[in-house]
Amino acid sequence: MRLFVAIELSDRVRSVLADVQASLGATSHGIRWIPRDRMHLTLKFLGDVPDRDVDGVAKAVRSVAKELKGFDMEIAGAGCFPPRGPVRIVWAGLQEKSGTLAECAKQLDQGLHPLGFPQELRPFSPHLTLARLRHDDSDGALRTAVEKCTYSPVTQAVSKLTLMSSVLSRKGPTYAPICSARFSRI
Ligand code: 2AM
Repeated sequence: MRLFVAIELSDRVRSVLADVQASLGATSHGIRWIPRDRMHLTLKFLGDVPDRDVDGVAKAVRSVAKELKGFDMEIAGAGCFPPRGPVRIVWAGLQEKSGTLAECAKQLDQGLHPLGFPQELRPFSPHLTLARLRHDDSDGALRTAVEKCTYSPVTQAVSKLTLMSSVLSRKGPTYAPICSARFSRI
């Protein structure tokens, strides 16, 4: 089972992001906008996990969450990956001044390492994927539109992690929550 640990987004955030997508419009052919029900923030991608190990992963996610404290994250700004050339991903940014979001990702990374998941070598780069492209044929127009894009930042309170499964198909991935793990610290 393909798994990842995510923060689920509020309806308000999804709605703001759907408006951002609409404002960027059809700038490039072949742009695949992420439907609002699939939007999420990934904290740790686990890849394929044997079915017999899923309970252990859920348990580890719960014990990490137990040590975490609720926080607010702010969704603000937009950008593209990679930073130059044809666009592969359009994203919305995250701001979380206290550093708790990065701490959350770090605790997960460390908590899942003993189960055999390699620790991340690259720094945590939180983003909300808004669109994917196989081939950006916009000749820079998409990147320019994203750079010019402005919207009012939106805040979301975070109080749990969700272990998600991802089933890939030709129509795109289907995500389903396996379990939610509430933060216990006040
Ligand atoms: P992305 O949105 O930046 O592509 C489910 O696939 C989630 O896991 C997505 O949010 C995806 O992030 C993230 N992810 C991280 N690393 C991945 C990888 N190596 N392969 C697929 N998805 C990955």
